[in-house]
Amino acid sequence: MSNKKFTVSSFLKAKKENDKISMLTAYDYSTAKVLDDAGVDSILVGDSLGMVMLGYENTLQVTMDDMIHHCKAVSRGTKNAMVIGDMPFLSYHVSVEESVRNAGRLIQEGNVHAVKLEGGSNIIDNVRAIIKAQIPVIGHLGLTPQSVNMFGGFKVQGKNEQKAKQIIEDALLLQEAGVFAIVLECVPEKLSKIITEKLTIPTIGIGAGKYCDGQVLVVQDMLGMYKNFTPKFVKQYANLSESIEGAVKGYIDEIKKGDFPAKEHTFSINDEVLNKIQ
Ligand code: KIV
Repeated sequence: MSNKKFTVSSFLKAKKENDKISMLTAYDYSTAKVLDDAGVDSILVGDSLGMVMLGYENTLQVTMDDMIHHCKAVSRGTKNAMVIGDMPFLSYHVSVEESVRNAGRLIQEGNVHAVKLEGGSNIIDNVRAIIKAQIPVIGHLGLTPQSVNMFGGFKVQGKNEQKAKQIIEDALLLQEAGVFAIVLECVPEKLSKIITEKLTIPTIGIGAGKYCDGQVLVVQDMLGMYKNFTPKFVKQYANLSESIEGAVKGYIDEIKKGDFPAKEHTFSINDEVLNKIQ
């Protein structure tokens, strides 16, 4: 467990020293605090919050205000991990100016250290402008969930020659633009190996195999809290929904039987006062 602040330089140092980077998503103060205390290198306030926290079908309805609200909470709960805020759908597509302004809001109001954008050549001018404004950027290629309607569903990307080459070219373009890391989501393991070897910045995989320089998972998935759908790449390290259900059933049961609250959970009053009020 590290107790030093993880920064952009730590990402690059980790790549050089072949030290794998750990990243998890978080969306609230308490969870961020637990992850930070456990020593995770980086916390991503992902727009996946639209699905796992707000119950939307995908990430497209998430707004800048949603992101800022959750980024603020996560930042308050984090001491050492680097906090990255996702730029939501349409917050970096309309114009360069709007992209810089929105990235700036995540830094100024959300108090995050860096922002993440989905895409490559299609958004490269905006990425360059955000970095020029001194805001660190992490890229995101492969299955970029904000493009779900273009992809026709949540599907593995880069399986044919043309798509695989496009992802490699986009990764090199993003690196040249100055991003400090790239998330590779749902691409074949051997493609992410090629990309990881070509880049001097780290790759962070999610469903991209073991050759990436780091890994990220949605915390609700790895803790067994989101039951709607579990992708093949998720490893469940706990089954919190089962534990919570058990705890809630116990609570209901004890209320019904009158076992809760017990003496140790109640407050007393002086007999003299009691006599006066009865
Ligand atoms: O929104 C998110 O949580 C993400 C991760 C899946 C990488 O982008």
